Amino acid sequence: MTTLTIKRPDDWHLHLRDGDMLKGILPETARHFDRAIIMPNLIPPVVTAKDAAEYRDRIMAAKPDNSDFKPLMTLYLTEQTEIKDLRAAHEIGLITAVKLYPAGATTNSASGVSDFRNVRRQLETMAQIGLPLCVHGEVTDPDIDIFDREAVFIDRILDPIRRELPELKIVMEHITTKQGADYAAAHANTGATITTHHLVINRNHILVGGIKPHYYCLPVAKREEHRLALRKAATSGDPTFFLGTDSAPHIDDLKEHACGCAGCFTATNTMSILAEVFEQDDALDTLEAFASLNGPAFYGLPVNEGTMTLTKGDPVAYPEKITTGAGPVTVFDPQMPLHWRVS
Ligand code: NCD
Ligand code: ZN
Repeated sequence: MTTLTIKRPDDWHLHLRDGDMLKGILPETARHFDRAIIMPNLIPPVVTAKDAAEYRDRIMAAKPDNSDFKPLMTLYLTEQTEIKDLRAAHEIGLITAVKLYPAGATTNSASGVSDFRNVRRQLETMAQIGLPLCVHGEVTDPDIDIFDREAVFIDRILDPIRRELPELKIVMEHITTKQGADYAAAHANTGATITTHHLVINRNHILVGGIKPHYYCLPVAKREEHRLALRKAATSGDPTFFLGTDSAPHIDDLKEHACGCAGCFTATNTMSILAEVFEQDDALDTLEAFASLNGPAFYGLPVNEGTMTLTKGDPVAYPEKITTGAGPVTVFDPQMPLHWRVS
């Protein structure tokens, strides 16, 4: 096969940031993706409908002129989130999902949830009105090893929530483990996003031969057996699994630092990497399901009308960095030649 045409893809988990960074990186996503679920972890976070409407306006203003990219907004769930505001934001179609960060789990998550009993009413409301919950699934308990935090979250937090509210639509975001993939596949109303980079790297890529800050993200990449489980899930065609790049730009100064920020920036080359990965696994025929069909089906949204054609040829070169008004951002290096280009 040397060309592949699929429905235009969406990104079901994306960090666009704000200000000069937003302006600099939005074209990288808008070039290839029709829609994206926009993460609300700004400083301060997007917690109210008003915040979400204003952020959406800033994104629309930063969009390249000829692009019809559509941001799908989310609210950042806090223990103070008002039910009335949540309902109103959903009713007017302003938000597509609500994001749950355990307090302190990742970049800009200090306002997240510390005690899950305190968001019970909000989650009940969401289950009633059919508003999906996107979950950053890691416990923050200092006694739990960072490589075990996703599996422990599933047992201690996610499974009890799902049992109490089986109708609540839950997206297990950026899963990194076999346990995550197995859990999502086994339960109704539970989907999972998988990032591009977690299909490519395992923890050795971060730590062997010197520390590689541009491969550090949260949840951190795990052992090879988990990467293989994610490859199997993503390429399976199972509607449980869909693309959420978690493309999360930080300027190089903050990545290449004694306390480097978490996040891999993959917006620029994601589709080329995915085509390479799916071809390696003899699964090019399921790329469309993963990138363009399964996400809208989970969210109850239409599939995009447009298409994307990928063509195989000589290796494609992508820029090493994207220049933004906030500073340079390094593009994820998959450490393999990419033969598929978006035409
Ligand atoms: C994200 C960020 O930088 O905002 N970082 C990351 O490593 N993925 C936050 C997140 O999604 O955890
Ligand atoms: Zn993220």
